Amino acid sequence: TTVEWEAESYDMGGHDTYMHKEIHEQADAVDRALRGRIDDRFSTVHLGGLNLDARDARAVRRVKILGCGTSYHAGQIGAQMIEELARIPADAEPASEFRYRNPVVDPDTLYIAVSQSGETYDVLAAVQELKRKGARVLGLVNVVGSAIARETDGGIYVHAGPEVCVVSTKCFTNMVVSFGLLALHLGRTRDLSVADGKRIIAGLRKLPEQIAEILANEAEIEKLAGEYADAKSMMFIGRVRGYPVAREASLKLKEVSYIHAEAYPASELKHGPLALIEPAMPTVAIVPDDDLLEKNRAALEEIKARSGRILAVAHQVQEKADHTIVVPKNEDELDPILMGIPLQLLAYYTAKAMGRDIDKPRNLAKSVTVE
Ligand code: G6P
Repeated sequence: TTVEWEAESYDMGGHDTYMHKEIHEQADAVDRALRGRIDDRFSTVHLGGLNLDARDARAVRRVKILGCGTSYHAGQIGAQMIEELARIPADAEPASEFRYRNPVVDPDTLYIAVSQSGETYDVLAAVQELKRKGARVLGLVNVVGSAIARETDGGIYVHAGPEVCVVSTKCFTNMVVSFGLLALHLGRTRDLSVADGKRIIAGLRKLPEQIAEILANEAEIEKLAGEYADAKSMMFIGRVRGYPVAREASLKLKEVSYIHAEAYPASELKHGPLALIEPAMPTVAIVPDDDLLEKNRAALEEIKARSGRILAVAHQVQEKADHTIVVPKNEDELDPILMGIPLQLLAYYTAKAMGRDIDKPRNLAKSVTVE
């Protein structure tokens, strides 16, 4: 099934920017990504365009995900979901790095090209190189009929609808949701139990409502953006599931506000970046209520001990943080889908406070179709 993109979906509908509009379209976009795909009878999902039967799926020994920019970050979360739910070793790599390093192309590896536009040159070139070497390549793409969609053996349309703002928000979220669907599908052809399949499906179904809940707290995030807009630089930290969320949030802030930001795994702070911590360098910490909660709290203490300001995104108020944005809890594996959403708003409101050209940041293009 394809979703038609009507002219009216380009209407700003009262929003001041496409970025703001697209952030607010996420509950509907996720609903669209799920629609018609859930199979309650077998606690799995149907992905019509995948062209991967159960036998093929079981023969996969490894998954390698390729993309650029925000799509690469979606791939990093996707790789973790696939490894957790399907227990297949998986990782993501920037498509350009992959294609320039003469990679070993392995017939038992499933390659997945992730792209909003489906036209990014580095991703397309990686797909073509893989095909030439006989690899199986799937696409996880937004634009129907795009070059990457056409050149892959099958795939998943993420159904985010048209994304106009140069920086990606709703498409990122739908990519991660689509990876959740793929991970569930691969898991259920292997060792993921019916009970776990049911648990993940219930979690997926909760997402649209939880996204709406996060977006309803917009005023609070706007206020926080005012408090952090004076930062010269910001540190984003997370651990395991939270780390790619931190990376994407850091990229979003850089792209639209031009504030320098970097992302680090929380555990790596002590191996260098702790030297940067001072009041002028606030930290945004991703602190989910999962098995790493205590570890993450310890990182907050380390930062506080060096007089760092902390903004936590968490499932409960963090005592050590100066501010906490509380987000609704989902299943541990699906938490990364929600935790980045308030930080899209933080980037947006920070850029707005600074008078930036939010939909068209300097030096950037929506899709890079040249080398
Ligand atoms: C450009 C855009 C990014 C985007 C990246 C990949 O750099 O500015 O926002 O994430 O391309 O684009 P794609 O269309 O392949 O997802």
